[in-house]
Amino acid sequence: MDYAGVDGRRADGTAGDEVVEPPASFSDRAVASDPELYEAFDDEGPSAWRRAADLLDWETEYDRVLDDDDPPFYEWFPDGRLNAAANCVDRHLDERRNQLAIRWFGKRGERRSYTYLDLHREVNALAAGLRELGVEEDDVVTLYLPMVPELPIAMLACARIGAPHNVVFAGLSAEALATRIDAADSEYLVTCDGYYRREDAFNQKSKADNARLRADADLSATVVVDRLGDALDVSLGTDEHAYEAIVEAHDGEAVDPVARDATDLLFVMYTSGTTGRPKGVEHATGGYLAHVAWTTRNVLDVRPDDTYWCAADIGWITGHSYGVYGPLSVGTTSVLYEGSPDYPDRERVWDLIERNAVSVFYTSPTAIRSFMKWGAEYPEAHDLSSIRLLGTVGESITPKAWRWYRDHVGGGEAPVVDTWWQTETGAISLATLPGVTPMKPGKVGPPLPGIDARVVDEDGEPVEPGEPGYLTIAAPWPGMLRGLREGDERYRREYWLEGDHGWRYRTGDGATVDEDGYVTILGRVDDVINVRTHRFNTAELESAIVGAEGVTEAAVVGDGDGRIVAYVTTRGDVDPDETLRGAIGERLARAVGDVARPDRVVFTPDLPKTRSGKIMRRLLEDIARGDEFGDVSALRNPEVVGEIESAVREE
Ligand code: WT7
Repeated sequence: MDYAGVDGRRADGTAGDEVVEPPASFSDRAVASDPELYEAFDDEGPSAWRRAADLLDWETEYDRVLDDDDPPFYEWFPDGRLNAAANCVDRHLDERRNQLAIRWFGKRGERRSYTYLDLHREVNALAAGLRELGVEEDDVVTLYLPMVPELPIAMLACARIGAPHNVVFAGLSAEALATRIDAADSEYLVTCDGYYRREDAFNQKSKADNARLRADADLSATVVVDRLGDALDVSLGTDEHAYEAIVEAHDGEAVDPVARDATDLLFVMYTSGTTGRPKGVEHATGGYLAHVAWTTRNVLDVRPDDTYWCAADIGWITGHSYGVYGPLSVGTTSVLYEGSPDYPDRERVWDLIERNAVSVFYTSPTAIRSFMKWGAEYPEAHDLSSIRLLGTVGESITPKAWRWYRDHVGGGEAPVVDTWWQTETGAISLATLPGVTPMKPGKVGPPLPGIDARVVDEDGEPVEPGEPGYLTIAAPWPGMLRGLREGDERYRREYWLEGDHGWRYRTGDGATVDEDGYVTILGRVDDVINVRTHRFNTAELESAIVGAEGVTEAAVVGDGDGRIVAYVTTRGDVDPDETLRGAIGERLARAVGDVARPDRVVFTPDLPKTRSGKIMRRLLEDIARGDEFGDVSALRNPEVVGEIESAVREE
């Protein structure tokens, strides 16, 4: 079985010693308050997921819950038909057309609000406009936009006409955009003139132009949102259209939502996999939306009368599922924030929570670590008493950070729900049910009802409590990817194992499980690193670095604190200096985006290798983290370890 490297992982011994019961004030009115839910899912099998599907409006009711005749190609609600945009917008009009759907806060202090009725009007107008530009059902539309309301609106306009979207994070480079346009076979692009990065107007359109030149595909049409007004003047070519002109021209038009098969593609999202090129993860309409809606309600406990804020960028899966589809499908009011948490100052996040009376807040341990560093005086200067639930996602949270978050943001009371999932799982898969399940700070919690997650050894046998193993999922779940853009074979190879125990989905994470079934995530066991809530393939980054003149080898790791550390060796005649350091940063920014610039470049005479020549990335990670590491005498070149350690310490 091709599992690798879990044994080098250690659990944090301090995690999970404490058990925190959900406060009664919370449980008493929680959406999920029935402990029998776990049993019900166990007893009923896949059809228990009807609970999720029944949160949606179906154009054609589904009869069958799961088609598992041809594993691992599973189909959820295969004979049902629905439209995702109708579920996120139209169906709320009767009850809450004048309720706010989105409250947007721009970087320059701008504000814009959209009621469900406003959203309906603009989504329809844009849908009509996209159709006029030639977009047909199943055409993939690439969206390359920062956190502006036009991004969720464009996603919904695409969903309305059955055109799958392909959102590319605005911070990715022209090269990365070009690759994703080509790989997704996309002929349409929606982007903007630019956006603010702190004080400065940044030209996004020129990145998009550059991508267009690099891409093999010929774009038929580009739509350009005017984010910057006079601050940046971009001229539009013949097949380029101003977003504002389109929605004005089609204002008031109605576009019937296209009924899609539940198994039809809702969107594709590129993410790093086990090889250098990103993979196009495909999500189906029905299962994805059902799972997202169910978890938004039952895990994040979001209801229509909440004001909810998911701080993740919509350019990644968390923003798709819990910034757009989740909150809108359950009919709540969301905050959408364009800026960074410390601009114009460190009050910003707490000011937004206070100003909007945010009741449910969902962010990452990376952000919480920054908040802790900045200090409790910032949240304490604000009235955060509206908060009733806190969520976290993206990496493990330490017990200390967990408590800080609860005490300083959650008033010492609010449940903190650690949620584990992935781009591929589509929706939250492991987490406590906040009204039912006790929390253990530092442990993510048990699998959700209906998710058959197991921690197993190389042979697929469950490991003993506390022993490290591989996190796998032994049965299909509704939010799962329906496949990869790269084809069935790649999908099967990348994720699935067939063994004596049937088909198993490989998450790529190492984990332990305790006597109560609570899972602790130990981190990736493949060549993927999670840094600053972005996911990178090490080979993708390393090949960009090796492209720099004079570099011979490179290994990239995360330091456990949101930083990227690159270990680099150079040719004998090359002086590893600041210029080379700069060139390496530039190469990464160009190949992937500014988000991939390393925080540290450590020049070393050699990289630690096994006898078979494999770079010991895990050892390099331990060194970057300042962790203890084991015996290195089995290495081909154990003597480099000391040199690398001192190189790291010197900086
Ligand atoms: C990887 C997935 C969809 C979440 C955002 C990232 C890590 C995710 C947790 C958590 C420990 C976590 C895993 C996973 N991860 N949530 N609660 N505790 N690790 O999505 O970019 O697809 O990355 O993020 O390693 O495999 P992604």
